[in-house]
Amino acid sequence: MVRVITVANQKGGVAKTTTVLNVAAALAEGGARVLMVDLDPQGSLTLASGFAPDALEVSLYDGLLKEVPAEAFLLPTAFGPDLLPSNVDLSLAEMELINLVARERRVAALLAPLRDRYDWVLIDSQPSLGLLTINALAACDQVLIPVACEYLSLRGVEVLLRMMGKVRVRLNSRLRVVGILPTLYDTRTRHARESLEAIHRHFGGEYPVFPQVVPRSIRFSEAAQAGQPILAFAPGNPGTEVYREVAAELARRAPGTPEEGSPPGALRRLGPLPEPTAESDAGARWKARVWGTAGPMRNLPPKQLKPGPDG
Ligand SMILES: Nc1ncnc2c1ncn2[C@@H]1O[C@H](COP(=O)(O)OP(=O)(O)OP(=O)(O)O)[C@@H](O)[C@H]1O
Ligand SMILES: [Mg+2]
Repeated sequence: MVRVITVANQKGGVAKTTTVLNVAAALAEGGARVLMVDLDPQGSLTLASGFAPDALEVSLYDGLLKEVPAEAFLLPTAFGPDLLPSNVDLSLAEMELINLVARERRVAALLAPLRDRYDWVLIDSQPSLGLLTINALAACDQVLIPVACEYLSLRGVEVLLRMMGKVRVRLNSRLRVVGILPTLYDTRTRHARESLEAIHRHFGGEYPVFPQVVPRSIRFSEAAQAGQPILAFAPGNPGTEVYREVAAELARRAPGTPEEGSPPGALRRLGPLPEPTAESDAGARWKARVWGTAGPMRNLPPKQLKPGPDG
């Protein structure tokens, strides 16, 4: 059975695209049939896979708005997975979708005929919680949430989880958090170490945090520029092995297994964000940046979510 996973976080630059690209490459390396879906009008996944977004004559935009079948614009990549590419045209889709019937299910409908052909579908999403991201959440079984190891990036996750809770109730009762993946970890800084601890403390009780941590390395940017996953571009880089392990970990967390993550409705049990420790320099800097002089920021009160059809 195909596994459809959305990589989402409405915060920009947390390694969503990098994670889709490299997990897809790692899964394909192991012999799986993998499809990547570039659901971001920036076209970063298309570019990082070695294609020029601006040169596309047909793309996801046509698939979603004009009902052009996915085969018409499906691209095989040099490193194994196939890609449904996109470019800036997709930014029109967000607006145009509003007037369509079943506007939240266009991605699911586009992917339906492809489900038998792949073992994995990985959807890259844009840094916003608009209609395209809702489409991705409605079309998948599980969500992987990359979180950069810096304090401010924890806050965006709350909003995403709340949104997922709503999508689960209204559109997709299968939806689960398959894991939170710490990314952009700078081994040299105390700030990164403390942020990683904060991710575990804050989310670890309710949501599975991946035991893997993706290290920060300039090789990732260089690989993206070369249109390759890091697995192909810098096979000896520690990031390569980490993404292979993330792919293996994902394979273990299949829907219906005890390893699978929690339903996002469990969010209401999360407490306020952890306070950074005052003793450290990094903690003091966070306090200054995040709280100013107005005192600790608190979470918005979580909405009470009705349980979905499966409880
Ligand atoms: N582990 C890493 N170490 C260093 N740089 C990285 C790492 N992972 C990703 N990057 C770089 O950080 C930038 C942002 O990564 P990426 O595009 O994957 O994030 P994103 O969440 O998809 O961004 P957006 O929200 O704009 O879609 C890119 O230049 C990418 O090459
Ligand atoms: Mg991206």
